[in-house]
Amino acid sequence: MTAYRPRRSALFLPASNAKAIDKARMLDADVVILDLEDAVAPEFKEEARVAAVAAVREGGFGRRELVIRANGIDTPWGREDLAAIAEAGPDAVLVPKIASPEDILQYNALISKAPAHSKLWVMIETCAAVARLDAIAACVGSTRLSAFVMGTNDLAKEMRARLRPGRAPFLPILSLTVAAARAHGLIVLDGVCNEFRDSSVLQAEAEQGLEWGFDGKSLIHPDQIGVTNAVFTPSADELAWAGAVVAAFGLPENAGKGAIRVEGKMAELLHLDLARRILAVAEAIG
Ligand code: COA
Ligand code: MG
Repeated sequence: MTAYRPRRSALFLPASNAKAIDKARMLDADVVILDLEDAVAPEFKEEARVAAVAAVREGGFGRRELVIRANGIDTPWGREDLAAIAEAGPDAVLVPKIASPEDILQYNALISKAPAHSKLWVMIETCAAVARLDAIAACVGSTRLSAFVMGTNDLAKEMRARLRPGRAPFLPILSLTVAAARAHGLIVLDGVCNEFRDSSVLQAEAEQGLEWGFDGKSLIHPDQIGVTNAVFTPSADELAWAGAVVAAFGLPENAGKGAIRVEGKMAELLHLDLARRILAVAEAIG
């Protein structure tokens, strides 16, 4: 099993907000995403780029993964953003509004000078991408692609769907995105919850994301971190079940068996894999 890195909470912040960047160095988010795109007004684009690059150089983010979201290459800022980010070498560059495998190849080429540790993360937020999720995810083999991040706000805008509690219009797309990501070994993060003052809405949405199979959730406000981290941390019940499954499969009388009874329920070898993963996740979170 590859080493697990927690990505329960991925906090976006406008890279033009120096105070927010400082604050992010101390927050309990697993991932910090410095945004140059939608959160930054056109007149602050250059300033935001300079600040994001400086933040990578200065460091101080500790165990947090540091990601910069660039503007698209169809904007006046995209290419300069990508060149600057590649030179700075954060953990990943996140690119917006991709629509096809060709887009992935193009962005990948534009960050070819980045250090090897810098990955390519992409927003899944266009209608065009939805029909091509598997082909896009398959670029993992030939590029730095390593994560999908749901962009539910842009998707809602393009679809002319309404983003409301329950997210019914988006559920098929969320599932297909998770399935495409898993088929190719990608990380997959859920979209943001705009209601940052109402933690019950966030709680329900984070639980839905966990149930749908996401690794974590992207966030817009520090107040959303605690709830999200808690939801994506294995519960005491899950840990107890995982421990029991691993222990049961280790018993001499169960040697060579594919299916056994644990706590009154069937456990197969696939459940042993699940149980080991839960334990690995809990250990990584610490
Ligand atoms: N990351 C780090 N710090 C943040 C933050 C974030 N995403 N959002 C707010 N803060 C800080 C503020 O700077 C403020 O700090 P201060 O108390 O030291 O002044 C504090 O948290 C409280 O902020 P608050 O007043 O509750 O929020 P707001 O009304 O000023 O801003 C938003 C609300 C949504 C505009 C703001 O949270 C934000 O910009 N979020 C990120 C948006 C984004 O990146 N979008 C792109 C992806 S969808
Ligand atoms: Mg977007």
